[in-house]
Amino acid sequence: MIILPRKHLFLFSLLTFTYTLNTTTSLAIAQQPPPFFHHICLNTSNYTINTPYQQNLDTALATLPTTNSGSGYFNFTTGQETNRVISFALCRGDIDPALCRRCLNDSIVGLRERCPNQIEAVGYYNECFLKYSNFTGNNNEVVLANLQNTSDVDRFNSDLRQLMDKLRGEAAAGGPLLKFATGSMPSGPDFTTIYGLVQCTPDLSQRVCSDCLEAAINRIPNTNIYGKVGGRILQSTCNFRYEIYEFFNRTAPTILIPSP
Ligand SMILES: *[C@@H]1O[C@H](CO)[C@@H](O)[C@H](O)[C@H]1NC(C)=O
Ligand SMILES: *[C@@H]1O[C@H](CO)[C@@H](O)[C@H](O)[C@H]1NC(C)=O
Ligand SMILES: *[C@@H]1O[C@H](CO)[C@@H](O)[C@H](O)[C@H]1NC(C)=O
Ligand SMILES: *[C@@H]1O[C@H](CO)[C@@H](O)[C@H](O)[C@H]1NC(C)=O
Ligand SMILES: *[C@@H]1O[C@H](CO)[C@@H](O)[C@H](O)[C@H]1NC(C)=O
Ligand SMILES: *[C@@H]1O[C@H](CO)[C@@H](O)[C@H](O)[C@H]1NC(C)=O
Ligand SMILES: *[C@@H]1O[C@H](CO)[C@@H](O)[C@H](O)[C@H]1NC(C)=O
Ligand SMILES: *[C@@H]1O[C@H](CO)[C@@H](O)[C@H](O)[C@H]1NC(C)=O
Repeated sequence: MIILPRKHLFLFSLLTFTYTLNTTTSLAIAQQPPPFFHHICLNTSNYTINTPYQQNLDTALATLPTTNSGSGYFNFTTGQETNRVISFALCRGDIDPALCRRCLNDSIVGLRERCPNQIEAVGYYNECFLKYSNFTGNNNEVVLANLQNTSDVDRFNSDLRQLMDKLRGEAAAGGPLLKFATGSMPSGPDFTTIYGLVQCTPDLSQRVCSDCLEAAINRIPNTNIYGKVGGRILQSTCNFRYEIYEFFNRTAPTILIPSP
């Protein structure tokens, strides 16, 4: 979908929203999808009801759950030119198919409620995200920080960087169905372990996925997750998260969602 050479990556608008997250209240792998961590209604352009854009959006979001890459990626585009609706959703690579489907359903309902007339909207859940727009240009970044400080910022960040670079390579090499990797790495001086998760939408090439993650990882020092024991940078084509507890499901196999 968004396949641009590296030099064009910075044409994306980085619409950044930042807030802190109390992780004691965000349990790993909830059974029920929690409320959106963040949603973005781009209020710069609205549609009016009963226009072709709305009809196409209705069609797109009704069809989206039936499009199925096999591994938690959904996309559907319909309409022409200014009435074109591009919609896509991505589930986290370690959640089971039923939860993925429920997360997608909930985000379709929730996002339209919260952004009732916006042409472009994005909703990020723990387990999935959903975006629709009339074009692919915005990267819709959300930064979430754990509140807890690291005791040794330099050490932590150098270990984190190693872990993230390793996971970035693994995820980017994941193939056309799933670009997802998790892993962990011990970090001093507190004998903590850093747990990381990275994912790209699988339609990206290996190179574009890797570049997207690298650019996001490079942004850590410029965001409020720097110096924290946990953080996420969520963008509409790639995302990562790290914590000092195991927040992902290590035993989950690659999810394969049967067609409805
Ligand atoms: C949607 O996903 C399919 C594979 O599931 C892929 O062939 C197609 O290129 C994707 N389209 C977009 C616009 O991402
Ligand atoms: C985090 O949430 C827990 C439970 O709601 C609360 O007891 C604690 O004080 C919160 N911590 C911070 C730093 O806000
Ligand atoms: C779009 O709608 C929102 C409220 O739903 C409003 O705040 C915003 O100003 C509107 N934008 C434009 C460009 O009309
Ligand atoms: C998307 O919608 C906005 C508002 O109607 C419009 O200005 C813009 O040209 C549209 N973009 C595309 C690619 O159609
Ligand atoms: C998702 O929504 C569709 C249509 O509303 C429904 O048929 C399906 O059972 C729902 N799936 C889940 C897991 O909630
Ligand atoms: C955009 O619109 C939504 C819903 O209409 C509203 O809740 C939100 O506050 C608006 N955002 C801005 C920045 O105006
Ligand atoms: C983290 O460190 C900053 C800057 O040193 C400090 O202002 C803040 O209170 C610390 N937060 C916690 C939760 O300890
Ligand atoms: C982790 O994945 C395995 C295999 O799919 C599943 O049996 C288990 O219930 C999952 N654990 C959690 C906490 O979701």
